[in-house]
Amino acid sequence: MDKKPDNNNFRNTNRFQLDKVAFYGRTLSEYLKMFRIDDTDHLKRYNRILDCPSGASSFVAEANNKYEVNTVGCDPLFDKDSRILQKQGEEDIEYVVKRVSLAPNLYNWNFYSSIEELRNYRKLSLDQFISDYNLGRQRRRYVKAELPKLPFDDKSFDLVLSGHFLFTYSHKFEFSFILSSIIELFRVCSREVRIYPLQKSSLEPYEHMTDLLTTLKKRYGITYHIVLVPFEFQKGSNKMLCLTH
Ligand SMILES: C[S@@+](CC[C@H](N)C(=O)[O-])C[C@H]1O[C@@H](n2cnc3c(N)ncnc32)[C@H](O)[C@@H]1O
Repeated sequence: MDKKPDNNNFRNTNRFQLDKVAFYGRTLSEYLKMFRIDDTDHLKRYNRILDCPSGASSFVAEANNKYEVNTVGCDPLFDKDSRILQKQGEEDIEYVVKRVSLAPNLYNWNFYSSIEELRNYRKLSLDQFISDYNLGRQRRRYVKAELPKLPFDDKSFDLVLSGHFLFTYSHKFEFSFILSSIIELFRVCSREVRIYPLQKSSLEPYEHMTDLLTTLKKRYGITYHIVLVPFEFQKGSNKMLCLTH
């Protein structure tokens, strides 16, 4: 993966950015809001969904087991044992929740009413993910994969979701990594790619967004829309990028 060298000055002025990519994840109810999917009936209209990266999200477990929606999650850590992932997930919940608790004014508290409720959502997601992981791995719904290359055929999913990775951690990535990752997400998709949120963990906008969107449109002929979503925990994070075939 292309990574920018750490720059201490930059880091000091951005106290609330996440220094490491956390193994962290949200539940299906949060995914529906983040990706503006009206309800589970709407979800069921898709034949096959990819969640990339899935992290410790319970979206794949819930979509398959509660709603019978064929959903696959991928992450570079999905070759690890469930006990290792559980430990990593528990540590990363504390790492992120601590960051949030240091600057609660940067967040809206209408969905989660408190730090405790935020932590409970994260634990619920981790628990549901871990309970499904061993069987899910045997059934190939958890696949080890690392952007910018995915081990899936062209157009193998009709919806591809990518939450809290590309722009959230864009202070760590080169433009070329973000661009080639988006092209790859689009390659494996037959209908729509949705990417959320559009800002960094420090709340700043991604500084190369205009260049990125122009390149996607002019060089690759990809149609995109920026769409408002009914979810804004991190202030300003109420938009997603939709790419359509
Ligand atoms: C915050 S989690 C994603 C959570 C989930 N999508 C959500 O919105 O709740 C970020 C994940 O990115 C994974 N990751 C790190 N480098 C990656 C790469 N090059 N390609 C894909 N995933 C990567 C990490 O292992 C981590 O689990």
